[in-house]
Amino acid sequence: MHIRVPFLDLNAHHAPLREEFERAIGEVIDSGAFAGGPFVEKFESEFAAFCRCQHAIGLGSGTEALWLSLLACGVGAGDEVITVPNTFMATAEAITYCAARPVFVDVDERTFTMDPAGLKKALTSKTKAIIPVHLFGQCADMDPILEFARKHGLFVIEDAAQAHGAEYKGKRAGTMADAGCFSFYPGKNLGAFGEAGAVITKDAELAEKIKVLRDHGQVRKYRHNMIGWNCRMDGIQAAVLSVKLRRLENVNLLRRAHAQEYNRAFEGLEEVIRPIEANYARHVFHVYAVRVQDRDEVMFMLNEKGIQCGVHYPVPVHLQRAYRELGYSNGDLPISEQTAQEFISLPMFPELTKEQIGMVTLALREAVTSGVMA
Ligand SMILES: Cc1ncc(COP(=O)(O)O)c(C=O)c1O
Repeated sequence: MHIRVPFLDLNAHHAPLREEFERAIGEVIDSGAFAGGPFVEKFESEFAAFCRCQHAIGLGSGTEALWLSLLACGVGAGDEVITVPNTFMATAEAITYCAARPVFVDVDERTFTMDPAGLKKALTSKTKAIIPVHLFGQCADMDPILEFARKHGLFVIEDAAQAHGAEYKGKRAGTMADAGCFSFYPGKNLGAFGEAGAVITKDAELAEKIKVLRDHGQVRKYRHNMIGWNCRMDGIQAAVLSVKLRRLENVNLLRRAHAQEYNRAFEGLEEVIRPIEANYARHVFHVYAVRVQDRDEVMFMLNEKGIQCGVHYPVPVHLQRAYRELGYSNGDLPISEQTAQEFISLPMFPELTKEQIGMVTLALREAVTSGVMA
């Protein structure tokens, strides 16, 4: 198939910055600071400033950010952590790595983020923490979640892996709870040249614990106060991220403009349910997903026309084979299950052109109104 509109075009973003990347990577090579070190520290302070938060800790991935945040909050064997099933597997895996049990609540039908109304039923004497996910770049409704957590003495860790620069009532994603976790996987709004992640927190003690955990539990060289892991960020990734962080605000503005353009094009087309931006939110559209009937058929038709699409996510986490021992079945979390069948993610990247958006919207309009699916 000839690709007319790619789902993501990293080259388009990187090509004009090539010299800057080469210079930045060259500095790391010259310094020899490859694992942790000054480039990581520099990026940490820049990212903390961008998030308007006191501390950022650079790590090897977003999965590690979630895992170490939970460990630093003392989550362990026998504990339960409440989260949502319409997320990337890593959110739940991080809970499992701590020997705790993920407990899933359904999502709000308009925003696809955690429905705070489900928390009461999910609470048990074992509940230790909550992980809301800022899905697709839009924050969960944090106030009721934080209030519930305060009332019941629970930690809250924001999964902001898709939400760099998103806001909730003017506050940056990741800054509202005990910790905020970010992924810098290459395709993210802020993406590295490989794997990387970070935790942000306003809690100095928590930040210190995560720094020790990411470095084998070392408090000073060869002095290990706890069992940790190797979760350090690479110097090269930090140097690349510093270059890209300077463009992040513009990247987010462009993504928002593209989302508006898509929204306008689908106005009045009842076969396509568009994403909404909640009153409280500044959405940064890591993913622009619409809901359609007969999704797989629609996707096939778009692919035939050279439009690359994605599905986030076809199987909700509570129904994954890996979690069958948790005992969930179809029908337990109906909104997450239904949206998993209906979501289709359209091409979204900052350099997307009006012409490309036009091709996507025309192809989708034709697919959903073709009558094939009637
Ligand atoms: C919602 C969510 N949580 C966690 C992760 C895990 O991040 P990483 O791939 O950097 O480990 C991702 C990234 O794919 C994600 O989208």
